[in-house]
Amino acid sequence: MENQPQPGACAALISSSLPMLLGGRYRLERVLGEGGMGIVYRARDLLHEQFGEPRPLVALKVLGESLAQSQDAHLLLYKEFSLTRSLGHARVVRVFSFDVDTASEVAFFTMELMSGATLDQLLFDCPRGVPWQELRRIATGLLDALGYIHRQGVLHGDVKPSNVMLDDDGVRLFDFGLAQALAPPLSGLPALNPQRFTAWTPAYAAPELLDGAPVSASSEVYGAACLVYDLALGRRSTQGARLAPPRQLPRRCWPALKIALNGDPQRRTITLDELQVAMQCEHSVVGRWFAAR
Ligand SMILES: Nc1ncnc2c1ncn2[C@@H]1O[C@H](COP(=O)(O)OP(=O)(O)OP(=O)(O)O)[C@@H](O)[C@H]1O
Ligand SMILES: [Mg+2]
Repeated sequence: MENQPQPGACAALISSSLPMLLGGRYRLERVLGEGGMGIVYRARDLLHEQFGEPRPLVALKVLGESLAQSQDAHLLLYKEFSLTRSLGHARVVRVFSFDVDTASEVAFFTMELMSGATLDQLLFDCPRGVPWQELRRIATGLLDALGYIHRQGVLHGDVKPSNVMLDDDGVRLFDFGLAQALAPPLSGLPALNPQRFTAWTPAYAAPELLDGAPVSASSEVYGAACLVYDLALGRRSTQGARLAPPRQLPRRCWPALKIALNGDPQRRTITLDELQVAMQCEHSVVGRWFAAR
């Protein structure tokens, strides 16, 4: 197998410092997306293809060039892989394997290739806001995923639209690059200095995180609430500007969402499960209960 750009590959989009073939079997085809920490490629698993696998495509994540220079960069990527591997849920991305390309020493992991678009894209496509039925499906799916990972002792740490994929089957939470495990054995993964790697998006990071507090279930509630609120409005609002109830939100959802949006963690007195119930809007009593708090 040649370690050269293949015909048809979007070579121009692939970092020139990266071999086109990683781990002797994954041929990079094109960039799927790039965030503050990593670059995700669509790659063809040539080994599986050789055995007749009808769907040999995977998504493959490497660290961005500046981060990859750090001594403990591989640990950072491995931690993301390991935490994600510990999870198994329909609303959470599935990872396959971690590897280091021997020749280039590039660390990478593979995962399922998700279809659809991120909620960032949805925000862009729906400037007047996402209709309630769709928003409700997105919100309950996301809260479902967060509820599950919290029960597994994992905090995502970076809930925002570009870390949630939406396709016909619903949402998928991914990018556990800033995730934290609360208990052994995963909390035993090598700890890295968070100051060097933490790159929160201020519009979705709870204010206490920006002040140095650790990620918590409450900060995840805040991130999810900001995401739901912004999808309802159809645009990104800046921190502190989330006051008016979005038009299409059923009235009884608003009291719960408003509490979840509170920038003061002491006054953000709502759990993920309570927010989930409010977003389902199944019981008319919900609004009165939250309004009375
Ligand atoms: N499994 C996947 N399937 C398809 N596309 C993906 C997949 N994983 C990531 N992407 C795309 O790549 C983009 C960047 O991925 P990811 O969020 O993991 O990178 P990141 O650098 O950690 O991001 P951040 O800036 O949030 O730290 C995503 O927004 C998405 O568009
Ligand atoms: Mg991301």
